[in-house]
Amino acid sequence: MSKGTFSVTTPIYYINAAPHLGTAYTTVAADTICRYQRMNGYDVAFVTGTDEHGQKIAETAEKNGMTPQQWCDSLAPAFKEAWELLDINYTDFVRTTEERQTRTVQDFWCGLYDAGWLYKGAYEGWYCVHEETYYAESDLEKNDEGEFVCPDCKRPVRRAAGEENWFFKLSEFQDRLLAFYEEHPDFIRPASRKNEIVSFVKGGLQDLSISRSSFDWGIPLPFDEGHVCYVWADALLAYFTGMGYDQIERGDEFERRWPIQYHFVGKDITRFHCVIWPAMLMAAGMPVAHTVFGHGFLLTKGEKMSKSKGNGLMPADLVKVFGVDAYRYYFMSDVQFGHDGSISMERMVQVYNADLANTWGNLVSRVTNMTTKYFEGAVPAASAGAESNPLREIADALYAEYDACMAEVDFTGAAAAVQKLAGRVNLYVEESAPWALAKDPEKADELAAVIYNCLEAIRIIALYMAPFMPNTSADVFGRLGLGDIAEVTDIEAATAWGQLPAGNPIEIGDPLFPRLDVDNLPEL
Ligand code: ME8
Ligand code: MG
Repeated sequence: MSKGTFSVTTPIYYINAAPHLGTAYTTVAADTICRYQRMNGYDVAFVTGTDEHGQKIAETAEKNGMTPQQWCDSLAPAFKEAWELLDINYTDFVRTTEERQTRTVQDFWCGLYDAGWLYKGAYEGWYCVHEETYYAESDLEKNDEGEFVCPDCKRPVRRAAGEENWFFKLSEFQDRLLAFYEEHPDFIRPASRKNEIVSFVKGGLQDLSISRSSFDWGIPLPFDEGHVCYVWADALLAYFTGMGYDQIERGDEFERRWPIQYHFVGKDITRFHCVIWPAMLMAAGMPVAHTVFGHGFLLTKGEKMSKSKGNGLMPADLVKVFGVDAYRYYFMSDVQFGHDGSISMERMVQVYNADLANTWGNLVSRVTNMTTKYFEGAVPAASAGAESNPLREIADALYAEYDACMAEVDFTGAAAAVQKLAGRVNLYVEESAPWALAKDPEKADELAAVIYNCLEAIRIIALYMAPFMPNTSADVFGRLGLGDIAEVTDIEAATAWGQLPAGNPIEIGDPLFPRLDVDNLPEL
């Protein structure tokens, strides 16, 4: 029985370049929480995709000598391949150039047009093509040449001089938005992000231009054909499309999933998700997502990583060195979700060695080795001493701790809670010295209990590590003679102590996290 739906989205990434470590960060985070909630019995929907319209993509395509559609088609596979490489288990990938997205977008804006939320006007002001954002002059900065530049990407902004646009009456939503934030304290997280948004809205809202008439790479507005939808007024609705909103074939799927639990986004686009998007939904009479989580930036050498700056490696470069599970584990455990985090090759190596090679991997190999040596490779029956032991005590408290971390979207905390058990098992092995027990025939029961407890703790650790490192956990389940870990839908019940069957065949296998070739590390 499903506990209900759990639905998450990542941003719909611009298709101007292949995904990099920053893009992958949000996507891995969404995948990690979705994997956990699947194991927790939820019916999960996880939507990601690519943002393919607008001026930036049209100009990128032109620079590359392609039509926009050709450009998008040439690059979309790079996103799907990157997500496959990182074991991203999304339920839908929306390309905003798909037919179904056109239907969603046209249906939505027709609804707002009919309801009187739109009017035609002329846009006179500043626009940053790179961020696809309108700016008031007071928001802009100046570069050394004295030109106005975008406060986010620092590129020169362009002047739109009286372009005919359709406007959405965003200014009328100031009070409703402020009241909504007040009544839904979890809507904007983390809290630091919330203060920023509240003061922005308190400063007053301008009506928002939702169409462009000076170029045509976008979804046409059905009520005014000379206009295409503003790229954000298109992309935000990809969340609807991915969750099953479709005027032609709309089933109950969308009703069950909307409103969703989380929009995972970076802090660069929190404002779009916390101001414009909820106002659009309120105007349409639709409920708003439970939480927008605006995480921080990955930094290298103190600078934000980005596709366009091209500072840095692609996910595949790191996966080659560390493997996919260690890749996922590093970003989730070492960069606190919600804060900016510096990443470095040195740190990745450190985490790999400390948490994975020396703790988790080492534990699995020493215990499976001892089981082979002392019990001919079969799980011993746990008799004396199995009922109460220091590992069980930690394991019994782990679900509550881990689940609370996941509810706070604290991946670092959840990973640390599991590591604590792994570290304790290694210590327990030292303390109980099975090699000494093995020499004394009178200690046979004790030896069996120690080995059983270690194997059982390994089974439990594998379950809790699975959202972070699905391949390793599946592998460990195999080594313990257990079935498919992907079939677990009640992790709380599955992690209750004492379920590893005596007699199960144990396999040693290759090291889970082999020694790294540190002389061959790529430059970050
Ligand atoms: O903004 N650190 O797409 P985008 C962490 N198409 N996360 C990072 C990052 C970094 N250095 N760099 C990028 C868009 N990200 C729009 C979204 S949604 C309806 C439309 C991640 O390709 C982070 O999630 O510029 C950030 O918000 C997103 O990529 C921006 O992706
Ligand atoms: Mg961006």
